[in-house]
Amino acid sequence: MKELDWANLPFGYMKTDYNVRVYYRNEQWGELEVCSEETIPMHMAATCLHYGQEAFEGLKAFRGKDGKVRIFRLEENAARLQSTCRGILMPELPTERFKEAILKVVKLNERFIPPYESGASLYIRPLLVGTGAQVGVHPANEYLFVVFVTPVGPYFKGGFSTNPYVIIREFDRSAPLGTGIYKVGGNYAASLRANKKAHDLGYACEFYLDAKEKKYIDECGAANFFGIKDNTYITPKSTSILPSITNKSLMQLAEDMGMKVERRPVPEEELSTFEEAGACGTAAVISPIERIDDVENGKSYVIAKDGKPGPVCTELYNKLRGIQYGDEPDIHGWVTIL
Ligand code: PLP
Ligand code: COI
Repeated sequence: MKELDWANLPFGYMKTDYNVRVYYRNEQWGELEVCSEETIPMHMAATCLHYGQEAFEGLKAFRGKDGKVRIFRLEENAARLQSTCRGILMPELPTERFKEAILKVVKLNERFIPPYESGASLYIRPLLVGTGAQVGVHPANEYLFVVFVTPVGPYFKGGFSTNPYVIIREFDRSAPLGTGIYKVGGNYAASLRANKKAHDLGYACEFYLDAKEKKYIDECGAANFFGIKDNTYITPKSTSILPSITNKSLMQLAEDMGMKVERRPVPEEELSTFEEAGACGTAAVISPIERIDDVENGKSYVIAKDGKPGPVCTELYNKLRGIQYGDEPDIHGWVTIL
Protein backbone atom coordinates (compact mmCIF):
# COMPACT_ATOMS: atom_id res chain seq x y z
CA MET A 1 0.00 0.00 0.00
CA LYS A 2 1.17 3.50 -0.78
CA GLU A 3 2.15 5.10 2.53
CA LEU A 4 -0.72 7.27 3.70
CA ASP A 5 -0.23 10.87 4.76
CA TRP A 6 -1.25 9.92 8.29
CA ALA A 7 -0.81 13.38 9.83
CA ASN A 8 -3.12 15.03 7.30
CA LEU A 9 -6.01 12.61 7.12
CA PRO A 10 -9.44 14.20 6.75
CA PHE A 11 -12.47 12.89 8.66
CA GLY A 12 -13.76 10.85 5.77
CA TYR A 13 -14.28 7.43 4.25
CA MET A 14 -11.38 5.46 2.91
CA LYS A 15 -11.65 1.93 1.63
CA THR A 16 -9.96 -0.58 3.93
CA ASP A 17 -9.47 -4.32 3.48
CA TYR A 18 -12.44 -5.85 5.30
CA ASN A 19 -15.74 -5.25 7.02
CA VAL A 20 -17.59 -7.71 9.23
CA ARG A 21 -21.27 -8.63 9.18
CA VAL A 22 -23.78 -10.46 11.31
CA TYR A 23 -27.27 -11.28 10.02
CA TYR A 24 -30.39 -11.57 12.13
CA ARG A 25 -32.80 -14.12 10.67
CA ASN A 26 -35.45 -16.42 12.13
CA GLU A 27 -35.31 -14.46 15.35
CA GLN A 28 -31.62 -15.03 15.98
CA TRP A 29 -28.24 -13.53 15.31
CA GLY A 30 -26.00 -15.60 13.01
CA GLU A 31 -22.24 -16.04 12.95
CA LEU A 32 -19.76 -13.26 12.28
CA GLU A 33 -18.87 -13.05 8.56
CA VAL A 34 -15.82 -11.35 7.08
CA CYS A 35 -16.41 -9.45 3.87
CA SER A 36 -14.36 -7.35 1.46
CA GLU A 37 -17.34 -5.97 -0.48
CA GLU A 38 -18.22 -2.36 0.20
CA THR A 39 -21.83 -2.78 -0.88
CA ILE A 40 -24.90 -4.30 0.76
CA PRO A 41 -27.37 -6.12 -1.47
CA MET A 42 -30.81 -5.37 -0.13
CA HIS A 43 -34.51 -5.79 -0.76
CA MET A 44 -36.03 -2.61 -2.15
CA ALA A 45 -38.74 -2.71 0.54
CA ALA A 46 -36.21 -3.00 3.40
CA THR A 47 -37.43 -1.04 6.42
CA CYS A 48 -34.14 0.89 6.72
CA LEU A 49 -34.80 2.45 3.32
CA HIS A 50 -38.40 3.44 3.92
CA TYR A 51 -39.06 3.76 7.61
CA GLY A 52 -35.68 4.65 9.04
CA GLN A 53 -34.96 1.43 10.91
CA GLU A 54 -31.29 2.32 11.01
CA ALA A 55 -28.90 2.75 13.89
CA PHE A 56 -25.20 3.45 13.95
CA GLU A 57 -22.37 3.92 16.39
CA GLY A 58 -18.97 5.56 16.32
CA LEU A 59 -15.86 4.65 18.29
CA LYS A 60 -12.13 4.74 17.79
CA ALA A 61 -9.00 2.60 18.00
CA PHE A 62 -5.64 4.21 18.80
CA ARG A 63 -2.09 3.00 18.32
CA GLY A 64 0.07 3.74 21.35
CA LYS A 65 3.72 4.65 21.70
CA ASP A 66 4.16 1.05 22.88
CA GLY A 67 2.72 -0.22 19.57
CA LYS A 68 -0.40 -1.59 21.28
CA VAL A 69 -3.84 -0.88 19.87
CA ARG A 70 -6.48 0.43 22.27
CA ILE A 71 -10.20 0.64 21.66
CA PHE A 72 -12.02 3.19 23.76
CA ARG A 73 -15.13 2.25 25.81
CA LEU A 74 -16.58 -0.28 23.43
CA GLU A 75 -18.96 -1.73 26.02
CA GLU A 76 -20.55 1.73 26.29
CA ASN A 77 -21.11 1.83 22.54
CA ALA A 78 -22.61 -1.67 22.68
CA ALA A 79 -24.99 -0.51 25.41
CA ARG A 80 -25.98 2.63 23.51
CA LEU A 81 -26.66 0.60 20.37
CA GLN A 82 -28.89 -1.68 22.46
CA SER A 83 -30.72 1.36 23.76
CA THR A 84 -31.20 2.62 20.20
CA CYS A 85 -32.51 -0.84 19.23
CA ARG A 86 -35.13 -0.64 21.97
CA GLY A 87 -35.99 2.85 20.77
CA ILE A 88 -36.83 1.82 17.20
CA LEU A 89 -37.87 -1.79 17.77
CA MET A 90 -34.86 -3.62 16.42
CA PRO A 91 -33.41 -6.77 18.01
CA GLU A 92 -30.61 -5.98 20.46
CA LEU A 93 -27.16 -7.21 19.54
CA PRO A 94 -25.56 -8.76 22.65
CA THR A 95 -22.48 -6.92 23.98
CA GLU A 96 -20.27 -9.97 23.44
CA ARG A 97 -21.21 -10.15 19.74
CA PHE A 98 -20.61 -6.41 19.35
CA LYS A 99 -17.22 -6.76 20.99
CA GLU A 100 -16.27 -9.76 18.87
CA ALA A 101 -17.16 -7.84 15.69
CA ILE A 102 -15.22 -4.73 16.68
CA LEU A 103 -12.07 -6.63 17.69
CA LYS A 104 -12.20 -8.69 14.50
CA VAL A 105 -12.63 -5.75 12.11
CA VAL A 106 -9.87 -3.75 13.79
CA LYS A 107 -7.51 -6.73 13.74
CA LEU A 108 -8.25 -7.43 10.06
CA ASN A 109 -7.51 -3.81 9.14
CA GLU A 110 -4.55 -3.34 11.44
CA ARG A 111 -2.43 -1.79 8.70
CA PHE A 112 -4.86 1.14 8.56
CA ILE A 113 -4.42 2.11 12.19
CA PRO A 114 -2.48 5.38 12.10
CA PRO A 115 0.92 5.52 13.83
CA TYR A 116 1.10 7.08 17.30
CA GLU A 117 3.03 10.15 16.17
CA SER A 118 0.38 11.20 13.63
CA GLY A 119 -2.27 11.96 16.27
CA ALA A 120 -4.79 10.27 13.96
CA SER A 121 -6.93 7.24 14.80
CA LEU A 122 -9.02 4.48 13.30
CA TYR A 123 -12.72 5.38 13.28
CA ILE A 124 -14.99 2.37 13.73
CA ARG A 125 -18.50 2.61 12.34
CA PRO A 126 -21.00 -0.08 13.40
CA LEU A 127 -24.29 0.01 11.54
CA LEU A 128 -27.51 -1.93 12.16
CA VAL A 129 -30.27 -1.86 9.57
CA GLY A 130 -33.67 -3.44 9.02
CA THR A 131 -33.32 -5.47 5.82
CA GLY A 132 -36.62 -7.33 5.92
CA ALA A 133 -39.31 -6.12 3.51
CA GLN A 134 -42.36 -4.27 4.83
CA VAL A 135 -44.81 -1.95 3.16
CA GLY A 136 -46.92 -1.23 6.22
CA VAL A 137 -45.15 0.70 8.96
CA HIS A 138 -43.87 -2.19 11.06
CA PRO A 139 -40.47 -3.40 12.25
CA ALA A 140 -38.60 -5.75 9.91
CA ASN A 141 -38.11 -9.43 10.63
CA GLU A 142 -34.54 -9.45 9.27
CA TYR A 143 -31.57 -7.24 10.14
CA LEU A 144 -27.95 -6.75 9.20
CA PHE A 145 -25.21 -5.58 11.53
CA VAL A 146 -22.10 -4.40 9.70
CA VAL A 147 -18.93 -2.74 10.95
CA PHE A 148 -16.42 -0.92 8.80
CA VAL A 149 -13.39 1.14 9.74
CA THR A 150 -11.61 4.10 8.23
CA PRO A 151 -8.52 6.02 9.36
CA VAL A 152 -9.39 9.60 10.30
CA GLY A 153 -7.95 12.94 11.30
CA PRO A 154 -9.74 15.78 13.12
CA TYR A 155 -13.50 16.35 12.68
CA PHE A 156 -13.34 20.09 13.23
CA LYS A 157 -10.88 22.37 11.50
CA GLY A 158 -7.57 22.73 13.30
CA GLY A 159 -8.11 19.78 15.69
CA PHE A 160 -7.59 21.12 19.20
CA SER A 161 -8.15 24.81 18.50
CA THR A 162 -11.11 27.11 19.09
CA ASN A 163 -13.98 27.47 16.65
CA PRO A 164 -17.08 29.66 16.35
CA TYR A 165 -20.58 28.11 16.54
CA VAL A 166 -24.00 29.50 15.67
CA ILE A 167 -27.38 28.94 17.29
CA ILE A 168 -29.90 27.82 14.67
CA ARG A 169 -33.55 28.19 15.67
CA GLU A 170 -35.04 27.52 12.28
CA PHE A 171 -34.63 23.72 12.33
CA ASP A 172 -34.86 21.13 15.13
CA ARG A 173 -32.75 17.97 14.99
CA SER A 174 -35.06 16.08 17.31
CA ALA A 175 -38.26 16.45 19.29
CA PRO A 176 -38.40 16.53 23.11
CA LEU A 177 -39.84 13.01 23.24
CA GLY A 178 -38.50 11.90 19.86
CA THR A 179 -35.42 9.97 18.81
CA GLY A 180 -32.72 12.48 19.83
CA ILE A 181 -31.43 10.18 22.58
CA TYR A 182 -30.89 7.40 20.03
CA LYS A 183 -28.23 7.24 17.35
CA VAL A 184 -30.55 6.87 14.38
CA GLY A 185 -29.99 8.25 10.90
CA GLY A 186 -33.19 10.29 10.96
CA ASN A 187 -31.71 12.74 13.48
CA TYR A 188 -28.83 13.39 11.12
CA ALA A 189 -31.13 13.86 8.13
CA ALA A 190 -33.02 16.41 10.23
CA SER A 191 -29.72 18.18 11.00
CA LEU A 192 -28.47 18.57 7.43
CA ARG A 193 -30.09 21.92 6.67
CA ALA A 194 -29.04 23.45 9.99
CA ASN A 195 -25.51 22.16 9.47
CA LYS A 196 -25.35 23.55 5.93
CA LYS A 197 -26.64 26.90 7.07
CA ALA A 198 -24.01 27.08 9.82
CA HIS A 199 -21.25 26.21 7.35
CA ASP A 200 -22.53 28.67 4.76
CA LEU A 201 -22.38 31.39 7.40
CA GLY A 202 -18.76 30.47 8.12
CA TYR A 203 -19.24 28.60 11.40
CA ALA A 204 -17.71 25.27 12.42
CA CYS A 205 -21.05 23.82 13.35
CA GLU A 206 -24.68 24.45 14.28
CA PHE A 207 -25.78 24.81 17.88
CA TYR A 208 -29.22 23.56 18.96
CA LEU A 209 -31.52 24.87 21.64
CA ASP A 210 -34.27 22.66 23.08
CA ALA A 211 -37.02 22.25 20.49
CA LYS A 212 -39.93 23.03 22.81
CA GLU A 213 -39.02 26.32 24.44
CA LYS A 214 -35.87 27.36 22.52
CA LYS A 215 -34.54 28.40 25.88
CA TYR A 216 -32.02 25.78 26.91
CA ILE A 217 -28.83 24.47 25.33
CA ASP A 218 -29.16 21.06 23.67
CA GLU A 219 -26.02 20.17 21.73
CA CYS A 220 -23.62 21.21 18.96
CA GLY A 221 -24.17 19.28 15.75
CA ALA A 222 -22.75 15.81 16.31
CA ALA A 223 -21.24 16.67 19.68
CA ASN A 224 -22.40 17.40 23.23
CA PHE A 225 -21.80 20.74 24.92
CA PHE A 226 -20.02 21.46 28.19
CA GLY A 227 -19.18 24.72 29.93
CA ILE A 228 -16.65 25.41 32.67
CA LYS A 229 -16.91 27.96 35.46
CA ASP A 230 -16.04 28.18 39.17
CA ASN A 231 -14.21 24.85 39.08
CA THR A 232 -17.41 23.19 37.78
CA TYR A 233 -18.06 21.14 34.66
CA ILE A 234 -21.61 21.87 33.47
CA THR A 235 -23.38 19.92 30.75
CA PRO A 236 -27.03 19.94 29.59
CA LYS A 237 -29.59 17.45 30.78
CA SER A 238 -32.14 17.08 28.01
CA THR A 239 -34.48 14.44 26.61
CA SER A 240 -33.43 15.21 23.04
CA ILE A 241 -29.64 14.92 22.99
CA LEU A 242 -27.44 11.91 22.40
CA PRO A 243 -25.88 10.58 25.61
CA SER A 244 -22.27 11.11 24.58
CA ILE A 245 -19.71 8.60 25.80
CA THR A 246 -16.98 11.22 25.49
CA ASN A 247 -19.02 13.58 27.68
CA LYS A 248 -19.59 10.82 30.24
CA SER A 249 -15.81 10.22 30.28
CA LEU A 250 -15.04 13.93 30.65
CA MET A 251 -17.46 14.20 33.59
CA GLN A 252 -15.46 11.47 35.31
CA LEU A 253 -12.12 13.09 34.44
CA ALA A 254 -13.37 16.47 35.70
CA GLU A 255 -14.34 14.79 38.97
CA ASP A 256 -10.91 13.14 39.12
CA MET A 257 -9.41 16.63 38.74
CA GLY A 258 -11.34 17.80 41.79
CA MET A 259 -14.02 19.68 39.90
CA LYS A 260 -17.74 19.67 40.59
CA VAL A 261 -19.93 18.21 37.87
CA GLU A 262 -23.45 19.42 37.10
CA ARG A 263 -25.82 17.84 34.59
CA ARG A 264 -28.85 20.08 34.38
CA PRO A 265 -30.79 22.33 32.00
CA VAL A 266 -28.50 25.14 30.84
CA PRO A 267 -30.33 28.31 29.79
CA GLU A 268 -28.94 30.15 26.78
CA GLU A 269 -28.11 33.28 28.84
CA GLU A 270 -25.77 31.24 30.99
CA LEU A 271 -23.41 31.07 28.01
CA SER A 272 -22.19 34.55 28.95
CA THR A 273 -20.93 33.23 32.30
CA PHE A 274 -18.66 30.40 31.17
CA GLU A 275 -14.90 30.73 31.48
CA GLU A 276 -14.44 27.97 28.91
CA ALA A 277 -16.65 25.72 26.82
CA GLY A 278 -16.29 22.86 24.41
CA ALA A 279 -18.02 20.50 22.01
CA CYS A 280 -17.20 16.87 22.72
CA GLY A 281 -17.66 13.56 20.95
CA THR A 282 -15.81 10.62 19.46
CA ALA A 283 -15.20 12.47 16.21
CA ALA A 284 -14.82 15.93 17.77
CA VAL A 285 -12.79 14.73 20.82
CA ILE A 286 -12.85 18.17 22.51
CA SER A 287 -13.31 21.11 20.25
CA PRO A 288 -12.94 24.23 22.38
CA ILE A 289 -15.52 26.90 21.63
CA GLU A 290 -14.36 30.37 20.73
CA ARG A 291 -17.83 31.95 20.65
CA ILE A 292 -21.46 31.14 20.08
CA ASP A 293 -23.45 33.60 18.02
CA ASP A 294 -27.21 33.98 18.28
CA VAL A 295 -27.61 35.85 15.01
CA GLU A 296 -31.41 36.22 15.19
CA ASN A 297 -31.23 37.85 18.60
CA GLY A 298 -28.15 39.89 17.73
CA LYS A 299 -26.10 38.29 20.50
CA SER A 300 -22.59 36.89 20.55
CA TYR A 301 -21.35 34.94 23.54
CA VAL A 302 -17.56 35.16 23.37
CA ILE A 303 -16.09 32.41 25.50
CA ALA A 304 -12.40 32.16 24.58
CA LYS A 305 -11.55 35.87 24.84
CA ASP A 306 -7.98 35.38 23.63
CA GLY A 307 -9.10 32.88 20.97
CA LYS A 308 -7.14 30.05 22.60
CA PRO A 309 -8.24 26.82 24.31
CA GLY A 310 -8.47 27.39 28.07
CA PRO A 311 -6.52 25.50 30.76
CA VAL A 312 -9.36 23.18 31.84
CA CYS A 313 -10.24 22.16 28.27
CA THR A 314 -6.54 21.57 27.65
CA GLU A 315 -6.12 19.42 30.75
CA LEU A 316 -9.26 17.40 29.98
CA TYR A 317 -8.13 16.93 26.38
CA ASN A 318 -4.66 15.78 27.44
CA LYS A 319 -6.08 13.37 30.04
CA LEU A 320 -8.58 11.87 27.60
CA ARG A 321 -6.10 11.51 24.75
CA GLY A 322 -3.53 10.20 27.23
CA ILE A 323 -5.82 7.34 28.24
CA GLN A 324 -6.84 6.64 24.64
CA TYR A 325 -3.25 6.39 23.39
CA GLY A 326 -1.99 4.60 26.50
CA ASP A 327 0.20 7.46 27.75
CA GLU A 328 -1.84 7.73 30.97
CA PRO A 329 -2.94 4.87 33.23
CA ASP A 330 -6.39 3.54 32.39
CA ILE A 331 -7.66 3.77 35.96
CA HIS A 332 -11.33 3.44 35.05
CA GLY A 333 -10.91 0.41 32.76
CA TRP A 334 -12.07 2.25 29.66
CA VAL A 335 -9.70 0.70 27.18
CA THR A 336 -9.72 -2.70 25.47
CA ILE A 337 -6.33 -3.73 24.18
CA LEU A 338 -6.46 -5.61 20.90
N1 PLP B 1 -24.20 14.09 19.87
C1 PLP B 1 -24.44 13.62 18.64
C2 PLP B 1 -25.67 14.06 17.95
C3 PLP B 1 -23.54 12.72 18.04
O1 PLP B 1 -23.74 12.25 16.81
C4 PLP B 1 -22.39 12.33 18.75
C5 PLP B 1 -21.45 11.39 18.16
O2 PLP B 1 -21.47 10.23 18.43
C6 PLP B 1 -22.19 12.84 20.03
C7 PLP B 1 -23.10 13.72 20.55
C8 PLP B 1 -21.00 12.44 20.83
O3 PLP B 1 -21.15 11.15 21.35
P1 PLP B 1 -19.91 10.22 21.64
O4 PLP B 1 -19.05 10.96 22.60
O5 PLP B 1 -20.47 9.00 22.24
O6 PLP B 1 -19.24 9.99 20.35
C1 COI C 1 -19.14 10.49 16.28
O1 COI C 1 -18.59 11.32 16.99
O2 COI C 1 -18.88 9.28 16.30
C2 COI C 1 -20.18 10.88 15.36
O3 COI C 1 -21.14 10.20 15.27
C3 COI C 1 -20.00 12.02 14.55
C4 COI C 1 -20.51 11.77 13.21
C5 COI C 1 -21.94 11.72 12.99
C6 COI C 1 -19.64 12.03 12.08
